Amino acid sequence: MPDPAALDRAVQALRAGALVAFPTETVYGLGADAANVDAVERIYAVKGRPVGHPLIVHIGSAEVLDAWADDVPPVARLLIDAFWPGPLTLILRRTDRVPDVVTGGRDTVGLRVPDHPVARALLAEFGGGVAAPSANRYGKVSPTTAEHVRADLGADVDVVLDGGPCPVGLESTIVDLTGDVPELLRSGGLTTARLVEVIGGDLLDRTRMGGSSTATDHRDPGQGPEHDPGQASSRAPGMAASHYAPAATIELTTVDEVARRGAELAATGCVVGVLAPHAIDALADPIIELEPAGQAEEYARLLYSRLRQADRLGIEVLLVVAPPERGVGIAVADRLRRAAHPRR
Ligand code: TXA
Ligand code: MG
Repeated sequence: MPDPAALDRAVQALRAGALVAFPTETVYGLGADAANVDAVERIYAVKGRPVGHPLIVHIGSAEVLDAWADDVPPVARLLIDAFWPGPLTLILRRTDRVPDVVTGGRDTVGLRVPDHPVARALLAEFGGGVAAPSANRYGKVSPTTAEHVRADLGADVDVVLDGGPCPVGLESTIVDLTGDVPELLRSGGLTTARLVEVIGGDLLDRTRMGGSSTATDHRDPGQGPEHDPGQASSRAPGMAASHYAPAATIELTTVDEVARRGAELAATGCVVGVLAPHAIDALADPIIELEPAGQAEEYARLLYSRLRQADRLGIEVLLVVAPPERGVGIAVADRLRRAAHPRR
């Protein structure tokens, strides 16, 4: 549970229109009172995020949903019953109460009830909605500890609530429920398999860079050229191909290739690092092997810390072996592809 004095400071700060970084089960958020236009504008300024790129409104429980969302379809109720509080963001029609600055002028709003004791205590005490993106500068790696937030945002954030390392470690799964068929806009902490189970029908997959497919028809998820110009879909604003990027260049590779590729790069004098699910044999001497990230769930939890560690160690090229694309491994692989995408 959060320290009551720190919690109180955070609630007062939100009421005063200040910015509060807080832990959720996925990543740390940079929060402001969603009803306070000036406060929300400061989020964009601090993040360096383009305006028009909408924010998720965090609420304390599904009981207040109707204050924020209109025309809530039955499938939303099913998903909420199954997965809230939890790492699932729903895109729904917004009510008039949601300011334009939160939604980038859209008639929809992203909503979620986070599952973290500190976030839940903050939302319960505050009472209103908290608009919050991940608490990092735009395009950078999301923070999964309070230290990450302080290192990124420094004095630009008024209060940082420390809830320890985030247990999921990747952002929430986002599903748009405003069309005829539910659309997956971002893979994340809640697996597609569990979503599809509860939806019980089609789910259109908008997460693939360069195309879409139906998540329920089990086509090879690796298909399709990655020619995304940076906007996977106008319905998934902010899912730019190049995103979640550390300073190091990320190169995706395989267990079989990593030692050879590492040696080749190291021979050019480049500082090379390796991140993989398990230890790799036969890495040439100057190559820095980061502590293995484990299988899907552990990999998800550790990924962003490892990417930050690579930067601290001065690694120029990080060779990454992704976990198998199953369960939350799908979201890990998605983030790695974006981190590896050439930057503009
Ligand atoms: O796990 C998470 O979702 C974290 C924690 C803090 O809750 N938040 C997070 O926020 O990842 P952010 O802003 O970094 O990513 C939110 C994504 C963006 O890609 C944004 O475009 C999308 O949600 N989004 C928000 N509202 C939307 C809307 N009305 N329509 C479509 N996409 C929306
Ligand atoms: Mg973000």
